[in-house]
Amino acid sequence: MKFTWYGQSTVGIEFGGKKLLFDPALSANPKAKDLNPEDLEADYILLTHGHGDHVADLETVAKKTGAPIISNYEIVTYYGGKGYQGHPMNHGGKWKFEFGTAKYVNAVHSSVLPDGTYGGNPGGFVIWNEDFCFYHAGDTALTWDMKLIPMTCPKLDVALLPIGDNFTMGYEDAIIASDFIECDTIIGIHFDSFPYIEIDHEAVVKAFADKGKKLILPEIGGTVEV
Ligand code: NI
Ligand code: MN
Repeated sequence: MKFTWYGQSTVGIEFGGKKLLFDPALSANPKAKDLNPEDLEADYILLTHGHGDHVADLETVAKKTGAPIISNYEIVTYYGGKGYQGHPMNHGGKWKFEFGTAKYVNAVHSSVLPDGTYGGNPGGFVIWNEDFCFYHAGDTALTWDMKLIPMTCPKLDVALLPIGDNFTMGYEDAIIASDFIECDTIIGIHFDSFPYIEIDHEAVVKAFADKGKKLILPEIGGTVEV
């Protein structure tokens, strides 16, 4: 499965024959200034929560592609009021889409939309079909609830976890999270975009390796195959 990382938590993957795009927000990320949000492709847009560094380019992409938004009830309702179509979910719920099953799972964080509108509670997504299962954690602390994922979802092939610290868990906690979710292949997200979340790549990759885990740190705009 090929994941394209556009910086922060913006990730594209072709899954079940559909293009899924998570948290389109290139224009909120100084490190992604060479990428054009207009170039992002999507059949479905998945939003983990309402913060600007996750939704900055939502309207640009939704307008261009007509892709429906999958997110929590509050965020889908908010964008629905602006004329965008979507599929509302809430924590613990799953739905079978044409690309596979998506489950909206807990995150410990906050969620307000850029104009101050309440964005519901933040979440992450576990996505699967018969062949593959992955977790995009969104923004979250390490949380005991992550232990529910292997109990309630198919075995994860890969997980996208925030590792930049300060606004989310840092890499030390992400290593523990990878134990909780029983997944040893991790793609790092939510790092380097701003000074608060810059990481030492070599040290962080080594810290995962020392625990027998593989951490993949993609280049911005780069594709990794898992
Ligand atoms: Ni956030
Ligand atoms: Mn964020």
